[in-house]
Amino acid sequence: MTEQITLTDSMAQELIDTYGSPLYVYDEAILRRRCRELKSLLPLPNYRPLYSVKANSNPVLLRIIREEGFFVDAMSPGEIFLEEQAGFTPSEIFMVTNNISDEEIRFAADRGILMSADSLSQLARFGMLYPGGEVAVRLNPGIGAGHSQKVVTGGSCKFGIEFEKIPEILRIAENYRLRIVGINQHVGSLFLESESFLTACRLLLSVAVGFPDLRIIDFGGGYGVPYQGEPRLDLAELSRKLTALVTDYLKTCPNPDMMFYTESGRYISAECCELLGTVQSKKDVAGVTYVGTDLGFNVLIRPVLYDSWHEVEVFRRKTAGQASGAPEAAADASKASLAAAGTEEAPGSGCSPEYETVQIAGNICESGDILAKDRRLPVTRHGDIIGVKNAGAYGYSMASNYNSRLRPAEVLLLENGEQKLIRRRDSLEDLMRGVLL
Ligand SMILES: Cc1ncc(COP(=O)(O)O)c(C=O)c1O
Repeated sequence: MTEQITLTDSMAQELIDTYGSPLYVYDEAILRRRCRELKSLLPLPNYRPLYSVKANSNPVLLRIIREEGFFVDAMSPGEIFLEEQAGFTPSEIFMVTNNISDEEIRFAADRGILMSADSLSQLARFGMLYPGGEVAVRLNPGIGAGHSQKVVTGGSCKFGIEFEKIPEILRIAENYRLRIVGINQHVGSLFLESESFLTACRLLLSVAVGFPDLRIIDFGGGYGVPYQGEPRLDLAELSRKLTALVTDYLKTCPNPDMMFYTESGRYISAECCELLGTVQSKKDVAGVTYVGTDLGFNVLIRPVLYDSWHEVEVFRRKTAGQASGAPEAAADASKASLAAAGTEEAPGSGCSPEYETVQIAGNICESGDILAKDRRLPVTRHGDIIGVKNAGAYGYSMASNYNSRLRPAEVLLLENGEQKLIRRRDSLEDLMRGVLL
């Protein structure tokens, strides 16, 4: 099962009242637990997990992930910059590129950051800029995996260099006296069953022997977390099988110091976060009930982008007349969330006026701006708080100012029980940043 933050009605209300709505809330303990699980995926001295910063790039979270012994990958100079702010050094950063400019190649290479070329032409560009240099290549093993065609990154897609083109890689490397020191792959995002991934790993290892200068083999990421009550990815089994593959490979590997990387984002940061927003209005249109919230796709775009499903729960806002210190409603909230997930019927559902089937809409001027469809939830009132689970990966990092809305604050619940604001909410002035009148 998924591991999520547990908030009570009064905690959710206090957080929203303190930091504003919407709000991303993170839990340090869960983040660290996920890191430790992946750190032990390959029990070998030469294994290093990388964290894929694209999933969530808040530097405070990056610092925690670094403390847990991770390196990072980067897709852009911006990610490298944020990684540096979090304390990562060049040797701890691996730039996994896609269609980057010469300027971006220089940004990484001049800092001593190893980059991986994603095409023959980018490998040649690197060779022209840094003849005699060290570089990695991203291979496409011809296999994909993932929750949506939009996140499958192996097989027929824009990423990587096919195995058949390895002779051309070697020819370009020879032309520019390049040393190919790394090979990497990433077959797709959010797999909960690891067979395709393991097959891709086997294929990658089978071609490694063709690269005489190799010192890094990066298997990529994509490890899924359950969003809808699915069984968890069996990490123990994955660990066993991957360790067996690698151990077998090492028996004939010419480089005994070969490093092995993985590159996961979602597995590390998804579950440690709940996004909170507020019910602002309700209406029925053509027999459909809309709960109108401030959770537009500018805040969390995954449902609109990929039809992603996030579990939703309702926290009751206490009205002025309600006694403070009333019994905590965590149990109520989780009951409501189970009902919302469709895994348990709400008491008396179907006839109880306490539950209703709704569309949770955002406040963006697009009819597709629906966060959750056909959810059976407790009847909400104005001011109630909607909690969206599993929001820590591809949540804030994909947030935008569309409709000139302000991106939310992010707050971290520390292991010692304190709260730490780790990003303030945007201000109106932020909307003018960079504008030249
Ligand atoms: C090259 C690469 N590495 C790593 C990742 C991280 O994937 P995930 O967050 O699913 O682990 C991605 C995601 O798209 C990717 O494209």
